[in-house]
Amino acid sequence: MPPERTAVRRARLRIALITAAVITLLVTAVGWVCDTVMTRAQNAQVWRELRFGAAVGDLTRPPVCTWLFADGVPQLANAPAGFPLAGDVGQVRRTGRAVERTLHRDGTVYLVRTQPRAGGLVVQAVFDMRYQLADRTHLWSALGAAEVVGLLASVGAGALLGRVSVTPLAEALARQRRFVTDASHELRTPITQAYTRVQVLSRQAAAQKLPDGHREGLDRLTGSLGRLGEVLDDLLLSASLMAGPARQSDHRPLDLAALARSVAAEESETLDGRVTLLVDVPPQPVPVNGVESALRRAVGELLSNAARHTPPGGRIEMTLGRADGTVTLTVCDTGRGFSPAEAERLFERFHRGGDDGRYGLGLALLREVVTRHGGTVTASSRPGHGARFTIRLPACGPPLTPGPPHQATAGRT
Ligand SMILES: Nc1ncnc2c1ncn2[C@@H]1O[C@H](COP(=O)(O)OP(=O)(O)OP(=O)(O)O)[C@@H](O)[C@H]1O
Ligand SMILES: [Mg+2]
Repeated sequence: MPPERTAVRRARLRIALITAAVITLLVTAVGWVCDTVMTRAQNAQVWRELRFGAAVGDLTRPPVCTWLFADGVPQLANAPAGFPLAGDVGQVRRTGRAVERTLHRDGTVYLVRTQPRAGGLVVQAVFDMRYQLADRTHLWSALGAAEVVGLLASVGAGALLGRVSVTPLAEALARQRRFVTDASHELRTPITQAYTRVQVLSRQAAAQKLPDGHREGLDRLTGSLGRLGEVLDDLLLSASLMAGPARQSDHRPLDLAALARSVAAEESETLDGRVTLLVDVPPQPVPVNGVESALRRAVGELLSNAARHTPPGGRIEMTLGRADGTVTLTVCDTGRGFSPAEAERLFERFHRGGDDGRYGLGLALLREVVTRHGGTVTASSRPGHGARFTIRLPACGPPLTPGPPHQATAGRT
C-alpha cells in the first residue's frame, strides 16, 4: 500500500481514537457531575423529610418509604428487618442529642435519624433510598447509551474528517513524489550525457596540454556533474523506497558476497592508491532477499564515505559474515571518525557533519534501504580513531556450507 494511503488510514484511526477519548471523558465528567449533584440533592431532601417526620410526623401514618419507630407505637407490617437500631435509641436516651447514620443493607441504602421528642419519647425515622438509587442507575444507563452513540459518531467523524482533510494532503504528497520521480528520471539522461562529454573533454584537455586553469575547471565540472548524478540516483531511490511494499515484489534472493566484492572492486578504482582497501568476504555465496541496485548503493555509500574520510595512507576494511540467521556487513576505516553523540544524527537527512559540497543524504537513504530489507544499520566511532558502520540483514536460504577454508580477499589499492 502506498505511504499516502497508509497515512490517511492512520490519520482516520487517530481522529477516531481522539474523538472517542474526548467523548468518553466528556460523558464521564458529565456523569460524575450529574451523579454528585443528584445524590446531594436527594440526600438533603430525604434528611429534611426525616427530621420533620421524627420531630412532628404522625407516628402511625409515615410518608412513603419512611418508617417511624417509637416505644408504644405498633410497627407497620412492611417495616424493614433490624429496625429500630437499639444502639442509637439508647445513645439518644443517654445524651438527649439526635443521631444520624447511613446504612447499606439488603441491597439498598437506609438513612436513619434518631432523636428525642416532646414527652420523653425517642423516635427513630428510617428512609429506604431504593427509588433514589434506581434513579441514579437510570442516569448512568442513559449516559452509557449516549457514550455508545458518541463512539459510533467518533468512528464516523474519523472517516469523514480523514476523507475531507487528510486525503487531499495525501494526494498532494503522492503528486510530489511522482514529480520528484519524473523530474529525476527526465534529468538523469541529459546529466549522464553531459557527464560523459565533460569526462571526454577533460581527457582531451589533459592530452592537449591545455592551461592548468582550464583543466582544473573541467575536472571540477566533472566532479559536480558526477555528484549531481548521484543526487538524482538518491532521489529516485528514495521515491521508489517510499512506494512501499508494492516494491517489495522486486526483492529477490541475491548473493551479498558477490555484490560486496564487486562494489569494493569499483570503489578501489576510485581510491587511486591513496588508501588500502581490505575485503574480507567468504568465498561461498551469502544469500539475502533484496533489491540488488538498492543494496549495491548502500554498500557503495559506506565505502565512498569511508574513502572520503580516510586520510592518505589509511586503511578501510570491509568484512562480511553470517551467524544465527543474520548477515553482517561491516565497514571500518582509520579516518577522523566522529563523536559517539553524533552517531545517531549521521542517519538524519541533510546531516552533513561539516562536509562542504555534500548533501547529507547518503546515510539516511542507506538506513531506509536497510530498514525496508528488514535489517538495521549502526555507526560507532571515537573521534580520531576511525569509524565503523555495521549493516545487519536477515539471511535467506540455508546456512553457508563449510566449503574451503575461509580466505580473506585483500584488495590493495
Ligand atoms: N566513515 C566516516 N567517517 C567519519 N564521518 C562520517 C563517515 N561516514 C559519514 N560520516 C559523517 O556523516 C555525515 C553524513 O553522511 P552521509 O553519507 O549521509 O552524507 P554525505 O556523505 O555528507 O553526503 P552524500 O552522501 O549525500 O553525498 C557526513 O557528512 C560525515 O560527517
Ligand atoms: Mg555519503
